[in-house]
Amino acid sequence: MSKKIIIAIDGFSSTGKSTIAKELAKKLEYAYVDTGAMYRAVTYYAMENGFVGLEFLKEDKLIENLKNIKLNFRYNEKLKFSEIYLNGKNVEREIRTMEVSSLVSKISAISAVRKMLVKQQQEMGKERGIVMDGRDIGTVVFPDAELKLFMTASAEKRANRRYKELLDKGNDVSFEEVLKNVQERDYIDSTRKDSPLKKAKDAVEFDNSNMGLKEQFERVLSIAERCIAKY
Ligand code: DC
Repeated sequence: MSKKIIIAIDGFSSTGKSTIAKELAKKLEYAYVDTGAMYRAVTYYAMENGFVGLEFLKEDKLIENLKNIKLNFRYNEKLKFSEIYLNGKNVEREIRTMEVSSLVSKISAISAVRKMLVKQQQEMGKERGIVMDGRDIGTVVFPDAELKLFMTASAEKRANRRYKELLDKGNDVSFEEVLKNVQERDYIDSTRKDSPLKKAKDAVEFDNSNMGLKEQFERVLSIAERCIAKY
């Protein structure tokens, strides 16, 4: 029996990281952690408490209150998916709005926020047997991950996927708005001082601009199985 490994999946927003990561975890019977959901939940908390808005950020206030933020994931048997809870409340729906998407890069650039969440993520993966997706998993959270994937796709393709997802969920948004948000997040996420989004030296780059889900999944699964067989 092979040893359980850590699979780190990083990449730009809306590259389909979480869809692939979730499927992979299910197939390998590994745990799955969506770290973007953690940054989104902190953003939602900051919004609800008046610490962040489009025109302002009360960074000190948020930092002072970080100790009051309890995050955890609970598996939903019906949806076959782990949902995020903020101080005991399921906030899966609340954290996926455009408002949170527009503010999350501001919050995830704060070092104290990153420090708190990275610590929790390292704790979750300490037994290995985990697929974790985000922006800094292969570079900061688990630089020793046995398998690192870096997903990319053109901004237009990504915005188009996100736009369809938001429409399906009944959100009233325009394609231009979504594309602008994707481009802004790319810029902020990859130029921030603390843990900017970048490909780890030993990551496998995966451009899925012209690939369907099934093909992507088969390729990723085969990379993962080959990697697991080595341990
Ligand atoms: O994966 P996502 O789009 O749900 O992530 C939301 C935001 O959180 C993204 O714009 C950047 C930030 N993030 C991060 O800084 N580090 C991570 N490990 C995961 C997400």
